[in-house]
Amino acid sequence: MKLLITGASGLLGINLALEAMREHEVIGVDRGKLKSAPFQVLKVDLLHRNAVESILDSTQPDALINCAALANLEECEEYPDRARILNAEIPGELAAACVRQNIRFIHLSTDAVFDGTKDGFYTEEDEPNPQGIYAQTKLDGECTVQKANIQAIIARVNFYGWSLTNRRSLGEFFVNNLTEEKYVNGFTDVIFCPMLVNHTARLLLAMLEKNLSGLYHVVGAQAMSKYQFGIEIARKFGLKESHISPKSVEGSGLTAKRSHNLWLSIHKLSTELGSPIPQFSTGLDEFYTQYQQGYPQKLRGYQQ
Ligand SMILES: NC(=O)c1ccc[n+]([C@@H]2O[C@H](COP(=O)([O-])OP(=O)(O)OC[C@H]3O[C@@H](n4cnc5c(N)ncnc54)[C@H](OP(=O)(O)O)[C@@H]3O)[C@@H](O)[C@H]2O)c1
Repeated sequence: MKLLITGASGLLGINLALEAMREHEVIGVDRGKLKSAPFQVLKVDLLHRNAVESILDSTQPDALINCAALANLEECEEYPDRARILNAEIPGELAAACVRQNIRFIHLSTDAVFDGTKDGFYTEEDEPNPQGIYAQTKLDGECTVQKANIQAIIARVNFYGWSLTNRRSLGEFFVNNLTEEKYVNGFTDVIFCPMLVNHTARLLLAMLEKNLSGLYHVVGAQAMSKYQFGIEIARKFGLKESHISPKSVEGSGLTAKRSHNLWLSIHKLSTELGSPIPQFSTGLDEFYTQYQQGYPQKLRGYQQ
């Protein structure tokens, strides 16, 4: 397959491109951050006029995976118009263009579409209730994509892993700060289902190969607090767990509101894929192995 990946410099985009190029031809869309990446790169700003048609016309892919977004919650509060265009309008345009050109389409959404007030886990049937600009624009993106392209896969994700900047994921936050012997906070009242980004990437490719379509939760198999996640990382990397203080997210000073319970069911995904979703410990083991093998440095080497 020829795969076009937007947001190829992002946390998911770069890892997905590297995973996909093992079996597919990969073209990444990037605004200029990538240099000497081991896959073809197309330099395009998606906010530019005709960008959507131009990337598809010039590459004619079999599938497009849209990893581009304004994914920083605080920035979305600060720049709501940009968030709306990148997270809601452009996904709709990409989805419609893929229908016209007979291209498979995967769009990335978020666990944060839920308000987190439910007891227990959320399924794909549960009603979203977004709490901030990021979550609202991501939910709007789901709607524009669904409306334009009934065959599209919409994946609500949450992942951690190594990124180009070494600063993008919560996993990197704990490893970097604890390695430098710094003290950090871990939220005890934010529950989520973290998945190693490479596992997310492999699952998205498997979903494409299985010809799935529609809305899926593509998150880790185990729910835990952000504090517990930090502790698990500290233990795995042999760092000081006592440097992580258990704190509430309320009063943390973050502008964008965080949902307390983002435990999402992965039953639909595992059933339709016909295979179990990797355990949290499997992902953490691989995150650590990547670290030992110099994967973070390799990624940083692809940056301008
Ligand atoms: N990280 C998570 O755990 C998480 C959780 C839930 C949902 N998601 C969703 O998963 C997807 C990927 O997230 P991520 O964490 O990989 O995000 P990320 O690291 O912030 O990457 C976003 C990507 O979008 C690109 N982009 C932004 N504006 C652009 C523009 N005008 N033209 C072209 N590209 C542009 C960025 O390029 P530059 O590098 O040039 O800025 C970057 O490559 C997003 O849809 C996000 O909402 C992520």
